Amino acid sequence: MKIRSLLTTRSMTREFDCLVIGSGAAGLSLALKLAGSMQVAVISKAKLSAGSTAWAQGGIAAVLKAGDSIESHVNDTLDAGAGLCDPATVQFVVEAGPRAIRDLIGLGVPFTPHAPIDEDFPFHLTREGGHSHRRVIHVDDATGSAIQNTLETEARKNPNITVLENHMAIDLITGRHMERGTRDSGACYGAYILDIKANAISTMLAGATVLATGGASRVYLYSSNPDGSTGDGIAMAWRAGCRVANMEFNQFHPTCLYHRQAKSYLISEALRGEGAELLLGNGERFLDQFDPRAELAPRDIVARAIDNQMKRRGLMCVYLDISKKGEAFIKEHFPNIYARCLDFGFDLAREPIPVVPAAHYTCGGVMTDLRGRSDLSRLYTIGEAAHTGLHGANRMASNSLLECLVFAEAAAKDILESAPARQLLGQARPWDESRVTDSDEEVVVTHNWAELRRFMWDYVGIVRTDKRLERAKRRLEMLMHEVHDYYGNFRVSKDLLELRNLLTAADLIVRSAIRRRESRGLHYTLDCPDLLPKAENTVLKPEPRK
Ligand code: FAD
Ligand code: SIN
Repeated sequence: MKIRSLLTTRSMTREFDCLVIGSGAAGLSLALKLAGSMQVAVISKAKLSAGSTAWAQGGIAAVLKAGDSIESHVNDTLDAGAGLCDPATVQFVVEAGPRAIRDLIGLGVPFTPHAPIDEDFPFHLTREGGHSHRRVIHVDDATGSAIQNTLETEARKNPNITVLENHMAIDLITGRHMERGTRDSGACYGAYILDIKANAISTMLAGATVLATGGASRVYLYSSNPDGSTGDGIAMAWRAGCRVANMEFNQFHPTCLYHRQAKSYLISEALRGEGAELLLGNGERFLDQFDPRAELAPRDIVARAIDNQMKRRGLMCVYLDISKKGEAFIKEHFPNIYARCLDFGFDLAREPIPVVPAAHYTCGGVMTDLRGRSDLSRLYTIGEAAHTGLHGANRMASNSLLECLVFAEAAAKDILESAPARQLLGQARPWDESRVTDSDEEVVVTHNWAELRRFMWDYVGIVRTDKRLERAKRRLEMLMHEVHDYYGNFRVSKDLLELRNLLTAADLIVRSAIRRRESRGLHYTLDCPDLLPKAENTVLKPEPRK
């Protein structure tokens, strides 16, 4: 097998104070915080709005109104996280929540006002699973796209931010990629970037590099996520030597529309927050048999209950019914979801709609501290790609956007304070394509992608067993070997890079799941159905490079 070398071909090199890989809520808000005094590049492998942020529906959780309290938000988060949250992280994030929301209001995010006018707090707050108070601030049922638009507009007009769309990070540049004399094996100096349209690879060096690349839920056949959620940042950090934690906790959202063309379109948990009920085909409610909080139990419990009923009764779906709230209420609170369902022939105001669970959120990720710092110096990870300790074994609804904003601020503060100098970067070895050719077997990529997503769904889904996990492990070993060979021989493409990253993410999920000998939160296995007395993170450490 030919090994890709980094030695010969010259490619373009650019330098920035900070390279931000990813342009969702995490990446853009961090870039805006730095741009007052630094030159920042924000790259996205597709449009700026291609990540999950633009799809977020329900809203952002924060303590905003009298009657609610920091203590209550903290306790709800700890409870949803099934004993595995880091209490210090939870406290840190929840306390910073109101400030993060004030920042967004300051930037002009048009949050839905309370009607009639509320003298205490002018915005409407909704409720979702696991929250004991109304604390989710939102923009109708399309919160994410309003936040994404606002942040994008600000970033595009900022002269200190260079926006590069259709640019994909391939791998991080670490000490081993630097010419002798400038190397520090424990540091990150930027990334190799594929300009997808020009089909050219450049070297981007930076004083600080930030992974804000989102999650890995597209590793599963059915997912609420956009196509790009392929775990790139997690895989890049892992290859560069960073620890990764709790990857077995992939969250399945209980309610995605069941329709051949709907591509797992999400039906927000806020519907249940406002009174929607989950029903079997005969109209019977069933969730109260699983948890006294019924429709408002945390997501892991609701998704597992649905999976249980579907498997036990041989059902293709269950039903979500909000029709009792009436047409006016539904159109006012959920205008986009109402319209989208009508496109598929379902009228929320008149009938229950068919729903199924789908992969939604990666609770694990690159291990970071409270400043977003990872194991390599100069490398930060924020947003869904990070493991901060906030979510534990199960993320509570609407805590993710909050985490993106709070850690963007914390990492930006650390970068500004430490001001890693870019003048000292020295020479990175440029990307070399002299020993690879164009692929004549693209089918390897499409076939392996489909195979991976199918067996992850069948063997590493909501309910697991040792046997299923071992099956997945064996298949993964074969695919990883095949793709590794292919990667060594052919010119890189976006599809190949995503597949390579997905395989790494899947491998981390399966290894972590095999290691956990209990059922906790989102990880449920028939072979170890009980909870161990001590809650511990699953921390994977890469083998040191020879
Ligand atoms: P993303 O927004 O996913 O952005 C990732 C970015 O990284 C993109 O710009 C992508 O192009 C870029 N990227 C990835 N890999 C590379 C690479 N190799 N090179 C260059 N660029 C790359 N959370 C809530 O708190 N409230 C909600 O109401 C809510 N609703 C949701 C609804 C849906 C349908 C979905 C899918 C998620 C929802 N979530 C919600 C979760 C939340 O939206 C995400 O966790 C959050 O938006 C992640 O933000 P991020 O900035 O970390 O990543
Ligand atoms: C939803 O609106 O149901 C999604 C909320 C979330 O994932 O936090």
